Amino acid sequence: MGTYIVEGGKRLYGQVDIGGSKNAALPVLCATLMNSGKSIIHNCPDISDIYDICEILRDMGCAVEMYGDTIIIDSSKAEFSNVKNSRANKIRSSVTLMGAMAGRFKKFSLPKPGGCTIGKRPIDIHIYVLEKLGAKVYENDNEILVETMALRGSIITLPFPSVGATENAIMAASFAKGKTVICNAAKEPEIVCLQDFINSMGGNVTGAGTGTIIIDEQKKFKDTEFEIIYDRIEAGTFLCYAAACGGEIFLKNAPWQQMISTLKCFDERPWKIYTSDDGLYIKSNKKAFKCQNIVSGVYPQIPTDMQPIITALLTMATGTSIIIETVFENRFQYAKELCKMGADISFFNHVCIVNGVKRLKGAESYICDLRGGAGIILSALCADGRSKIHNSHFVERGYESIERKLRSLGAEIKLTDEM
Ligand code: EPZ
Repeated sequence: MGTYIVEGGKRLYGQVDIGGSKNAALPVLCATLMNSGKSIIHNCPDISDIYDICEILRDMGCAVEMYGDTIIIDSSKAEFSNVKNSRANKIRSSVTLMGAMAGRFKKFSLPKPGGCTIGKRPIDIHIYVLEKLGAKVYENDNEILVETMALRGSIITLPFPSVGATENAIMAASFAKGKTVICNAAKEPEIVCLQDFINSMGGNVTGAGTGTIIIDEQKKFKDTEFEIIYDRIEAGTFLCYAAACGGEIFLKNAPWQQMISTLKCFDERPWKIYTSDDGLYIKSNKKAFKCQNIVSGVYPQIPTDMQPIITALLTMATGTSIIIETVFENRFQYAKELCKMGADISFFNHVCIVNGVKRLKGAESYICDLRGGAGIILSALCADGRSKIHNSHFVERGYESIERKLRSLGAEIKLTDEM
């Protein structure tokens, strides 16, 4: 729990090394339960959510060793019991333990997940997919109880292309007898990464990245070594930082092929963006740029995780922008904090209206969720004067040393343990 101190107005120059994807690494770490053996996972980001999921796996009896961005997990001695409430309800991704556990354990309980307060975040679709595969699921206020005598393949049509529920369905169906088809599946690149991981253990999953995924039964999974994809949201975040602050930065390993909808937000504006085999380059001369209307959605639309950061950028556009958030029902809470810096924002439910202003001024603000925090940092980097941004732990859940990376580009930002 710390505070960022930012002196705004600095341009950014240099190279940022984009890290492994948080939202790809978390389900893959859960899926290491599937092989009852050894998995070596490279390119894991150094963020608190990763530590939390590793602690949960340790609580379950897995041996977990971390060497830099490599995590080695031996899940042979894992048991279903002992997933501590205190950890599982800190993070959302504990819910994606269910799919792998359903394949390994006949009966288990799991504390209900936590995560950012960007919406109610129910788990009805997760429960639906397990029941379609023949599991019995009971829930109370605090935990979920699952009984799985024998999972059997099924045709599962998701009511909404939930990322987490798609991940649970793939993991559980890998143990089910026969074939499973998931229709209206999430298409995010993180789903493709999970498919590739499960297949590296001997699984038989095809179709990830399309709306229809086919999973064939696999009796035994083997040890594996695997590399996590790069983080498209971290890359998009730094792209917006450079566009807002001005300067020239190279985003090494930015997976720009997975960022097409985000890159479209930069069209016809005074920013030069070039792609290369190993990354993305942006040159921004901090000239005025025009407003635009944004609709966040499921992949391949503009990611909901990019919405707060793009909205923060648009607070300095000329004219009025309208932002519609179609994935989560409470994802504009950060906007109140941007208003403290002089932004002209109003929002109601899924719609946010931004009237661009010429200048922002440094202020004291309070982060209340991960990506909203990244948006508040963008505004502070551009504001005149000093900003104090409390509750850094939200940002540390999903960005590896964001203040170190920004300082290396010339920003004046430090993280203090001031409450
Ligand atoms: C994943 O969350 C990501 N988290 C989120 O990233 C991301 O915003 C989200 O997918 C959408 O892309 C991880 O991968 C760890 P969903 P997830 O299930 O799986 C509703 C970040 O900032 N829903 O696709 O929880 C839900 O309420 C985080 O990195 C149900 O109604 O997202 C939401 O409105 C934030 N019932 C919508 O679907 C369910 O059973 C999307 O949720 C499940 C979901």
